[in-house]
Amino acid sequence: MDFDERLISSSMLAEDASVEYSLRPRFLNEYIGQANAKEHIRVYISAAKLRNEALDHVLLYGPPGLGKTTLAAIIANEMGGNLRITSGPALSHAGDLAALLSNLNEGDVLFIDEIHRLNATVEEVLYPAMEDFAYDIIIGKGPSARSLRLELPKFTLVGATTRMGLLTSPLRDRFGIKEQLELYTHEDLIEIVTRSAGILNITITVDGALEIASRSRGTPRIANRLLKRVRDFAQVSGNGIIDRDSARCGLEMLGIDELGLDAVDRRMLTAMITKFSGRPVGLSTLAASTGEDATTIEDVYEPYLLQLGFIARTPRGRVLLPAAYSHMGYAPPRDENSQVSFL
Ligand code: ADE
Repeated sequence: MDFDERLISSSMLAEDASVEYSLRPRFLNEYIGQANAKEHIRVYISAAKLRNEALDHVLLYGPPGLGKTTLAAIIANEMGGNLRITSGPALSHAGDLAALLSNLNEGDVLFIDEIHRLNATVEEVLYPAMEDFAYDIIIGKGPSARSLRLELPKFTLVGATTRMGLLTSPLRDRFGIKEQLELYTHEDLIEIVTRSAGILNITITVDGALEIASRSRGTPRIANRLLKRVRDFAQVSGNGIIDRDSARCGLEMLGIDELGLDAVDRRMLTAMITKFSGRPVGLSTLAASTGEDATTIEDVYEPYLLQLGFIARTPRGRVLLPAAYSHMGYAPPRDENSQVSFL
């Protein structure tokens, strides 16, 4: 489960999913942040439109919640095509992908989330589809088997992954456009929170938006969820307006500290300090000491802790940096075996 999903109960998920959808920008000029990726995509879209061609296949990679699905939808809107959404784990048989491909129209966007989780047989169907807009059917078995090639409409595949390193190189090489999404700045998140508050009819001050932005781990999905939860607290125990105090109060009740760290982050950092004294720790050991699985730690927790300069990756494992000690209220170790010497 995503870090931010754990903040809310399952009954809230359905409401949040539809609200989250309504908060998504639909066109590139409404999309805040990711200046590099946005500018590149703007140019590629304009050029493809000038040539009257489908946009080349796009691979979006980076931590969860940064707007990969939103960008795929924007690409479809900007190109005037339909968006079809699926995911690596949902495509268990080659036939599942064939059904999707055969229903596409010229200029449509097929979005495959978690594309690193495609199985090998499905991936092989994707190669000719991406390269030649073709689907090969094998008819018959054994020596008399023949291959029949069906033509597909010129479509754009948008693949998304949190793990670029797990993509096979033949698949990676078939994407003409690769864009890395990065954690958002506080300024971008303030803009996103303010825009979302406008759509949801929430009154929020700049200080209130800053408070939420600075505790959202650089992630719009978290910022929008925190906005909605803080609104609940402000409505029940205040006048409904989100200012610095009501935001702080709500966020504290949610167990989110000033940097956006939650109970799992704190468990992980505390274990690294108290059990391992800042020495290098393997991912599986960290997972065991926090009760989270290794993939969640690597995809969801680590990027933000790395960005904060709280941990570093070394060949021997994850080490704790001095900033993490002071944030957690501990003095950093001073002996020569401390974590810093491994950097
Ligand atoms: N809502 C979620 N992500 C967004 C973004 N990047 N820009 C604008 N609104 C958003």
